[in-house]
Amino acid sequence: MSVLEIKKYPDPVLKRKALSVEEVDGALQRLIDDMIETMYAAPGIGLAAPQVGESKRVIVVHVKLKEEEHPLIVLLNPEIIERDGKVVSEEGCLSVPGYVSNIERAAAVRVRGLDREGRSVEIEAEGLLARALQHEIDHLDGLLFVDRMSPIKREFFRKRYLRRLKESA
Ligand code: NI
Repeated sequence: MSVLEIKKYPDPVLKRKALSVEEVDGALQRLIDDMIETMYAAPGIGLAAPQVGESKRVIVVHVKLKEEEHPLIVLLNPEIIERDGKVVSEEGCLSVPGYVSNIERAAAVRVRGLDREGRSVEIEAEGLLARALQHEIDHLDGLLFVDRMSPIKREFFRKRYLRRLKESA
């Protein structure tokens, strides 16, 4: 297993719509293991394959906090099939280091996908797990949390972020 480089905004791979996983093979298992290791090393509570430069519909999520603890989740081709309620809470992303923003998300979701063996699974989630799943699934459609900010806030973010990036180059 290895820790992979996490792609940062504005890397174009983060804007691309990722392709469905068609085959559960050894290469995919290696990618999943590397994503898990990369998520733990960051550390983060979730990671989507485009964040390590692989435009594939694969996410890993591990919410393990005092207030909320769940087992490690690996999902291939995840889809949100039900949403309930709305909640605004602070969110950040390993691909957008140094920034957090209040983002509105569904309070509860039901997600359907495949586990790492290719078996069909459904997960019901609320709280931070629901937020993490929505955030990671957004990555598969080329969406970052900053794309869910208001246009004015997003423009303000973009200018500050790109200026900081230029200064640190
Ligand atoms: Ni993210």
